[in-house]
Amino acid sequence: MRLHSKDLLGLRETPDEDIALILDTAKNMKVILDSKNKKAPHLQGKSIVTLFYENSTRTRLSFELAAKYLSAAAANISASSSSVAKRETLIDTGRTIERMGTDIIIIRHPLAGAPHLLAKNLSCSVINGGDGMNEHPTQALLDMFTILAYKGSLKGLKVAIIGDILHSRVARSNIWGLAKMGAEVVLSAPSTLLPVDIEKTGAKIAKTPEDAAYGSDVIMGLRIQLERQKSGLFPTEREYAKFFGVDDRILKLAKPDCIVMHPGPVNRGLELTSVLIDGEHSVIEEQVTNGVAVRMAILYLLSGARPTRYATI
Ligand code: CP
Repeated sequence: MRLHSKDLLGLRETPDEDIALILDTAKNMKVILDSKNKKAPHLQGKSIVTLFYENSTRTRLSFELAAKYLSAAAANISASSSSVAKRETLIDTGRTIERMGTDIIIIRHPLAGAPHLLAKNLSCSVINGGDGMNEHPTQALLDMFTILAYKGSLKGLKVAIIGDILHSRVARSNIWGLAKMGAEVVLSAPSTLLPVDIEKTGAKIAKTPEDAAYGSDVIMGLRIQLERQKSGLFPTEREYAKFFGVDDRILKLAKPDCIVMHPGPVNRGLELTSVLIDGEHSVIEEQVTNGVAVRMAILYLLSGARPTRYATI
């Protein structure tokens, strides 16, 4: 079982059958994750490094745990404590990591396209752990896996994504991935937080969050990315929460079995009310668990796709 590419850089370019293969493989990985003995031999002898130029709790830790549960060696470096702080280039840093015998590098970077640049210049596999405002493919895959666990299929589902679409790499990856798997994606955001031409992706734009939520199977809130925003994109946090925060009133417009999702980290009371975050429709904590299973599947499938680099002596 192999993926078409040595890298996982975005769902825009990932074939449907690779998405299906990852989601299917993750089911088996979830069995390992749920078992008492979380140690399987799938990646014995492999080495995985996380290279993060931005903060992370979920993505970085889940990749490290996924690697360890499958018996790989796992290490992490962050830009602030590495030679990146001494002005080493991204490619030189990547080559240095690769020369230590690394099979897979997971990179998070504030610039869109940084993982693609690394992938082009290295023979090891590269996984995009989030690049600027472009894509966060492994988050969208774990979101799809979580939806599948509740709905059985993605085909024909209405998924409402409400929040800061403009700055959201999670939204972009979900738009590409969900559309490929047959779901309808409906977006709602203040007009200042909606990218120009986003309809070209195939996603629909709702006039209001209420319209987006109406009859939906899934409501996904998104984090307001204050660190990427220019000021003035919405008047105040209070006003944003009033008009675009997802609350019980909006949830009541969705289907009775609608699930509530959020990639995290969540700003409680801004994007979603605490009542919804902790309520019976919320699957936010399951998303975190499923993130480990999906990342185990991705590491496993990519480790098989890697071309041999070492000549026999
Ligand atoms: N959802 C997500 O990417 O979370 P982290 O920033 O904690 O990795």
